[in-house]
Amino acid sequence: MDIKNLRLNYQKSAIDFSNAEDNPVQFFLNWFNDALEVNKDEANACVLSTISDENKPDSRVILLKAINESGFTFFTNYTSSKAIHIENNNNVALNFYWPELERQVRISGVAQKISAKGSDAYFKSRPRESQLGAWVSEQSNVVELNHSFESILNDLEKKFDGKEVERPLHWGGYCIAPNKVEFWQGRPSRLHDRLVYEIDGNKWNKKRLAP
Ligand SMILES: Cc1cc2nc3c(=O)[nH]c(=O)nc-3n(C[C@H](O)[C@H](O)[C@H](O)COP(=O)(O)O)c2cc1C
Repeated sequence: MDIKNLRLNYQKSAIDFSNAEDNPVQFFLNWFNDALEVNKDEANACVLSTISDENKPDSRVILLKAINESGFTFFTNYTSSKAIHIENNNNVALNFYWPELERQVRISGVAQKISAKGSDAYFKSRPRESQLGAWVSEQSNVVELNHSFESILNDLEKKFDGKEVERPLHWGGYCIAPNKVEFWQGRPSRLHDRLVYEIDGNKWNKKRLAP
């Protein structure tokens, strides 16, 4: 396979710059609904980038679990590498790529832990096996090659038998308050449409960018 010949001529859609929403979260919701129509299972998968305490970027896929005026919320382990990075530097980026729509969204913002009440509410809505899973793993810690998570899970099943699984305090949500959001729509001849929103005090400025 000669990968240098892999390319698509994007032509599915265009950004209507003159009628674009004034708020990028509203614009995002429109595109997110389109993404759900073509890929309802993983339209919410996105790449979260953080900066380590050695100033090195790091990226991983996460699942977005809520979107509102305050921002974009995901859940994780508060002892994981990403959480340690955020503690040190809460400037983060999210990247969504929806190939079926030839669209990308890039979000820069500031991550903050959500309230314990908010984390509890989402934790309660998770399937029981996911709730137990949050107790099993110290995410991103090194473990022995023959480490058995199953035996820990069995012990936890006994511990919580007949009881509601409590949220471990080391597990919860972050909300990313956006300060810059760029929408990219693939266009023919690489003349892609790009619309960027940047926050200025409490209002959003909109600009078109060259492809
Ligand atoms: C499709 C997909 C969805 C994922 N969703 C999450 C998520 O919502 N939260 C999470 O902590 N990790 C999620 N992960 C795992 C992360 O990519 C990553 O492996 C893990 O969080 C450890 O990252 P860290 O060591 O940088 O903290 C997901 C991975 C994939 C492939």
